[in-house]
Amino acid sequence: MTRGLFLTFEGPDGSGKSTQVRMLAEHLTQQGYAVLVTREPGGTDIGEQIRSVILRPENTAMAPVTEVLLYAACRAQIVQELIRPALEAGQIVLCDRFLDSSVVYQGYGRGLLDAVNGINAFATDGLAPDLTILLKIGAQAGLARIREKTRDRIESESAAWHEQVYAGYLALEQANPERIRGIDANGSVSEVHDAVLRVVSPLLDASASGAGEAL
Ligand code: TYD
Repeated sequence: MTRGLFLTFEGPDGSGKSTQVRMLAEHLTQQGYAVLVTREPGGTDIGEQIRSVILRPENTAMAPVTEVLLYAACRAQIVQELIRPALEAGQIVLCDRFLDSSVVYQGYGRGLLDAVNGINAFATDGLAPDLTILLKIGAQAGLARIREKTRDRIESESAAWHEQVYAGYLALEQANPERIRGIDANGSVSEVHDAVLRVVSPLLDASASGAGEAL
C-alpha cells in the first residue's frame, strides 16, 4: 500500500507554528507534492464545533477529564475523516498540533498522563507522525506574542502552568529523538522556515529515491 508522509508541528502557544505550517505547505506544493494542511483541535466540521467548546474562555468549569476526552474526540474524527484517507492516497499531511499536545498540555499540565495515553491510543488507532517538528521558545516568550485580550481558555492559564507544559515538550523531545526534531523558534520567520526545510528535506529525498515507502 502506498502511504504518504505524516508531519506534525508542535510548540508552546505563540511559537509561530501556524505560520511555519503555511510556509512549508506552500513550498511543498510548489515542488509538486500533494499536501493536506490541517490543525488540531479542529480540522473537520465536527472537530471545529468541539474546538469552540474546548477553547471558549467562559468554560472555566470544564473538568480536566472532559478536556482530555474532547481533544481526543476531535482527534478521532480528524484521523478517520482526513488524515488516514490522505495518507492512503499518498499525500503529505501537515498537522498543526497532534497527540503530543495532549501529552504535554493535559498529561504534564493537568497531571493526566496515563489517561491521555490510553484514551488516545483508542482515538488514533495507533496512528503516529513520521516526523514532528517542535518549535522551541520559552513559554513566557511565546505567550508574550499573544495579546491578552485575544487569549483562549488554555492560553489564559498561568505562566507557571505553561512552563510546566513546556517542560513536558522538552521531556518528550528527549524521549523520542528519532521522531521529534527541535528547532529554535526565537529567530525570524524565514530563519525558522529554513531550519524546517533542513529537517524535512531529507525525508523527501529518501522517498523520492525510493528508499522509503512514502510518496
Ligand atoms: P492552537 O489552535 O494551536 O492555538 P494557537 O493557534 O493559539 O497556537 O491550539 C489551541 C490550544 O489548545 C492551545 O493552547 C493548545 C491546546 N491543546 C491542548 O491543550 N491539547 C491538545 O491536545 C491540543 C491539540 C491543543
